[in-house]
Amino acid sequence: MIELSLIGIGTGNPDHLTRQAMRALNAADLILIPRKGASKADLAELRRAIVAEVVTNPATRIAEFDLPVRDESVADYRQRVDDWHDAIAAVWAQTIADHLGAAGRVALLVWGDPSLYDSTLRIAARLHPAPRLEVVPGITSIQALTAAHAIPLNEINGPVMVTTGRRLRDEGFPPGTDTCVVMLDGECSFRHLSPEGLHIWWAGFAGMPEQITDHGPLAEAGPRIIETRAQARADHGWIMDIYLLRRA
Ligand SMILES: C[S@@+](CC[C@H](N)C(=O)[O-])C[C@H]1O[C@@H](n2cnc3c(N)ncnc32)[C@H](O)[C@@H]1O
Repeated sequence: MIELSLIGIGTGNPDHLTRQAMRALNAADLILIPRKGASKADLAELRRAIVAEVVTNPATRIAEFDLPVRDESVADYRQRVDDWHDAIAAVWAQTIADHLGAAGRVALLVWGDPSLYDSTLRIAARLHPAPRLEVVPGITSIQALTAAHAIPLNEINGPVMVTTGRRLRDEGFPPGTDTCVVMLDGECSFRHLSPEGLHIWWAGFAGMPEQITDHGPLAEAGPRIIETRAQARADHGWIMDIYLLRRA
């Protein structure tokens, strides 16, 4: 039987790795590392560095594989994602069969935590026969953001909405909450909100050595963040950012 460990590695700082994650990596017979072309944003280099630093078990092997490309010509979004996940599961299965056969421990390094805007668990559910699954929790980008600003996530007794840039742009500030965390936003969607009464806490590369932060009333900080983000993206060739919006 295949045992599959999905190991949360935190958000790009090797010090985010827990002892549980280090143990799980060293217990693996095979560690899979996805490659996404030449883009720095595939974070393969960081995964390689973590493995090189942490894995001391000489029996642990590493296998890299090319991540299938999503077919953007499929009109239906859900179908497009489903097909893509099928293709990734097929590549995992083939890579495991090639390097390990039908039994052994396989590990995947998952950015942040596997529970948060990540499809690794959904892809794992497509494997046949089903592997025995283990999840090792990791520090999320939400935690990296709140730590960077030394702020609590919620207000006293308050609910929090976690959403995407696209939904913020299309649906506005979510109802029923005064605190909203926005992820997967390539276009600073806060610019579509009316800024009165809103405060923003923003971080690019949260938790990483390149971390940049800004915060303030949205009317003042918003334009600054748009500029900083564009400059950082140009300097690094990529960026990951996240922000928290709070209604005063
Ligand atoms: C596909 S989701 C993965 C989230 C991840 N599983 C987690 O636990 O944070 C990618 C999004 O997470 C956020 N993110 C991840 N790492 C980040 C970082 N180091 N700094 C800022 N945002 C980050 C960004 O909003 C990015 O668009």
